[in-house]
Amino acid sequence: MRLALLSLPFAAALASAVPFKGYQQKVKESIYSPPSGWYKHAPAPKHHLLELKIALPQLKFPELEQHLWEVSDPSHPRYGAHLSKQETEALMAPHPETLDIVSNWLASHGLAEEDIIRSSANDWVTIRVPVGLAEEMLTTDYHVYKHAQTGESIVRTMSYSLPESLHDHVDLIQPTTMFARFKAFKSTLHQSNHVRPAASSPSGSTITGPAGNQVDASCNDTITVSCLRQLYNAVDYNTSATNGNTLGITGYLNESTNNKDLQQFYKLQNPSAYGSNYTTVLIHGGQNNQSYEAAGLEANLDTQFGFGLTWPTPRTFYSTGGEPEFDSDLLTEGDTNEPYSYWLEHVLSQDTIPQSISTSYGDDEQTVPRSYATRICNGMAALGARGISVMFSSGDGGVGDGVAYPDKPLKHQCYSNDGHNTSMFLPVFPASCPFVTAVGGTVNIPEIAASFSGGGFSNYFGRPSYQDDAVSAYLATLTPGSYKGLYNSTGRAYPDVSSQAASFLVVYQGQPTPLDGTSCAAPAFTAFVSMLNDARLSAGKAALGFLNPFLYSTGYKALNDITEGRNPGCQTEGFNATVGWDPVTGYGTPNFEKLKDLVMAM
Ligand SMILES: *[C@@H]1O[C@H](CO)[C@@H](O)[C@H](O)[C@H]1NC(C)=O
Ligand SMILES: *[C@@H]1O[C@H](CO)[C@@H](O)[C@H](O)[C@H]1NC(C)=O
Ligand SMILES: *[C@@H]1O[C@H](CO)[C@@H](O)[C@H](O)[C@H]1NC(C)=O
Ligand SMILES: *[C@@H]1O[C@H](CO)[C@@H](O)[C@H](O)[C@H]1NC(C)=O
Ligand SMILES: *[C@@H]1O[C@H](CO)[C@@H](O)[C@H](O)[C@H]1NC(C)=O
Ligand SMILES: *[C@@H]1O[C@H](CO)[C@@H](O)[C@H](O)[C@H]1NC(C)=O
Ligand SMILES: *[C@@H]1O[C@H](CO)[C@@H](O)[C@H](O)[C@H]1NC(C)=O
Ligand SMILES: *[C@@H]1O[C@H](CO)[C@@H](O)[C@H](O)[C@H]1NC(C)=O
Repeated sequence: MRLALLSLPFAAALASAVPFKGYQQKVKESIYSPPSGWYKHAPAPKHHLLELKIALPQLKFPELEQHLWEVSDPSHPRYGAHLSKQETEALMAPHPETLDIVSNWLASHGLAEEDIIRSSANDWVTIRVPVGLAEEMLTTDYHVYKHAQTGESIVRTMSYSLPESLHDHVDLIQPTTMFARFKAFKSTLHQSNHVRPAASSPSGSTITGPAGNQVDASCNDTITVSCLRQLYNAVDYNTSATNGNTLGITGYLNESTNNKDLQQFYKLQNPSAYGSNYTTVLIHGGQNNQSYEAAGLEANLDTQFGFGLTWPTPRTFYSTGGEPEFDSDLLTEGDTNEPYSYWLEHVLSQDTIPQSISTSYGDDEQTVPRSYATRICNGMAALGARGISVMFSSGDGGVGDGVAYPDKPLKHQCYSNDGHNTSMFLPVFPASCPFVTAVGGTVNIPEIAASFSGGGFSNYFGRPSYQDDAVSAYLATLTPGSYKGLYNSTGRAYPDVSSQAASFLVVYQGQPTPLDGTSCAAPAFTAFVSMLNDARLSAGKAALGFLNPFLYSTGYKALNDITEGRNPGCQTEGFNATVGWDPVTGYGTPNFEKLKDLVMAM
């Protein structure tokens, strides 16, 4: 982010700006009710500060998207010709007239250029204003909403308006109607469900892994760095520390990665990495607190496996703040937005970005307004255009809330939030964005689908053409009439791929701690992508960038197809894993040597 300089002619224009007050106001966005779990508590205190993010239309996004398809399609002559920061920003920038009109509107409410923070591409404007002023600008009333189960409080509104003449110049303003909370997808609930007694696998014994090679039998009980390398056929591959390849792991929600734990993990699982460090990037109040009590299970998991698998590849941990909570006793405490926009603003403003990035957070798609999800998804497309492979875990609720069978006393929570309260599966965002690679989960050897593996169909994003054949073929295998009305058969389907996702042996506060969840799968899969990028960069080739066009055209041939298991949720059995692509495990788990042969031939 940078502060834009105020040029003189522009200042003069501002001085003579016609105030927007009194103009015809028109509702810009509204929601019917707060999502399940939230209720209206009290009017928001007028002095509470809101950090409002205003998204200005990215006029040339269709052009950016066209570049993305070309540079990501292995059969296109431009494959690998990724865009620079400047080229990408030029395609994300708003029209100059939009900049003027929005500045005039802000000026009419007393906000000068120095009160405004602009993103590097000028496509986001950030302002800090008290609730009272925001209410005036947006013709709305903010309230404190509380979450019944967790007690969290946030300041939001059901609807906001803008002068009609501004509608074409603003995509969205948040926080207004967004209630997303961006959970981590590791599960502490079934923390040791999959851990079997060590006695079940006598040491030294082996079993056949998915690539046909012999792997330690203990890998069927507990997943380690060595197990993943064995299972996914990368035992002998050494990465370079100096070929320009780097790996990124993102963290949110105050999750800190504890260095003492990391070193202990290295000692146990990859002794050659012991003593090595990583780069920490703190964004928007993010922290990486090294006190033992502050260690985060998710951050420890993601960095330990991501870094442990790929060492000595240089590595970065991003910690992005964006506190979703609001303490109604602290009137001026910042109540900020969801954090992906801050992370995207930061990385897109950098000249170089890690080529492979893993994120294990997300939330129900319907809690993110469509306009916002679209903008975040566009940011992922921009990363793809720049040659970055972006992985997200697919969620831990199967087709929805993870509530399995009709005989369970627990009621499912799979209802639409559009005022109709219709039963539906709950897709997860950002996994549902067509510009990311969504990673589902498997368990056991031979591998079967993890029952929690998030999968399904977006209600916001249409099916991208790269997956047309794969998804049509899957839909044809469904028992006719199954789940009619519960899922959107024309939506972007996910996950794309998968990885082992249970009994990952993480070190947490000094203790080896087994974890389950697609949070395990995303950094694991990303590590193998990073190794593929390593091989390509060492050979002077471009990074892989956005993976899906490759995966769906040829890459799937080098993935282990998972054909058993299902992902129950919403009191249904969920979808079945099948031969070929399925909305439980995607195309399956990596076979590194085979993938390497494919990507080195491109
Ligand atoms: C990888 O490094 C190890 C340890 O230095 C070495 O023994 C092994 O031969 C290397 N593998 C390859 C394929 O170069
Ligand atoms: C995150 O850290 C900040 C600063 O230490 C603290 O005020 C806040 O309560 C923390 N939030 C959570 C969810 O732990
Ligand atoms: C590791 O890197 C962090 C910053 O990324 C730094 O604060 C810390 O001192 C480093 N630790 C060691 C042991 O070098
Ligand atoms: C780090 O975490 C500890 C334990 O949770 C807490 O006491 C301390 O205040 C935190 N430090 C910072 C700078 O937030
Ligand atoms: C939606 O319908 C379900 C089942 O009829 C009910 O339990 C739930 O309370 C309803 N939710 C809302 C917000 O009306
Ligand atoms: C791995 O564990 C699962 C679950 O206990 C079991 O069904 C399977 O037979 C085991 N695999 C092998 C090769 O023993
Ligand atoms: C289904 O997905 C399409 C995008 O393919 C979207 O336009 C439509 O609104 C979705 N339908 C529902 C009911 O969400
Ligand atoms: C999943 O497979 C079972 C049989 O193995 C079948 O009864 C069921 O209908 C299938 N589910 C769907 C959604 O096709």
